[in-house]
Amino acid sequence: MKILVNAGPTREKIDPVRFISNHSSGKMGYAIAAAAVKMGHEVTLVSGPVTLPPPEGLKKFISIVSAAEMAEMMKKEFVYADLAILCAAVADYRPAHPENQKMKKKEGNLFLELERTEDIALSLGKMKKNGQLLAGFAAETNDLEANALTKMQKKNFDFIAANVVGVPGRGFGAEENAITLYKADGTKKELSLKSKKELAEELLEELLKK
Ligand code: C5P
Repeated sequence: MKILVNAGPTREKIDPVRFISNHSSGKMGYAIAAAAVKMGHEVTLVSGPVTLPPPEGLKKFISIVSAAEMAEMMKKEFVYADLAILCAAVADYRPAHPENQKMKKKEGNLFLELERTEDIALSLGKMKKNGQLLAGFAAETNDLEANALTKMQKKNFDFIAANVVGVPGRGFGAEENAITLYKADGTKKELSLKSKKELAEELLEELLKK
């Protein structure tokens, strides 16, 4: 099977030395890509800037920086994928007018105008053909189930892996995670707290179940 995974944060340029980003470590997506390789699949990983080495045995590793670059590469690669798993924490907004020279500090407050980035998951959901599967993640601090189910429907996902963020030892940057996997057929599966490596294997088994 051809599996496409994205992982890590994106960086949105303010000026040549500054950017807006988030705390995504890429660990969950890299663990999923590594587990998929181990299971014998052809894996392409599109990654934002992280400190992890790319898993061995990937078919393709694509390194990107911004949400716009992530969108371009994901749309290009999705055409060939049987399953795409969207783990990247894509920035929702970027500076509307990035500066080409380093901004000088001035007296008083600074107001930065932000514009929306492309919702890559939404675009892929619209592109999705019969036989292709799309799985997304929902990192939520509250109303996990309701938010996850709304997102799955809106983005045309076949699965959504929902996890709580803002709890120490889980989610962003942590070694372990717990997930509730909701399926478009209305069923759900609890994947209890364990290492991201083990969780990745369990998650893939669920996604690939006939
Ligand atoms: O709407 P929200 O960002 O919470 O949804 C999370 C899911 O959407 C994740 O799978 C994430 O990778 C994806 N996403 C995306 N492009 C964005 C924002 C989120 O693909 N601009």
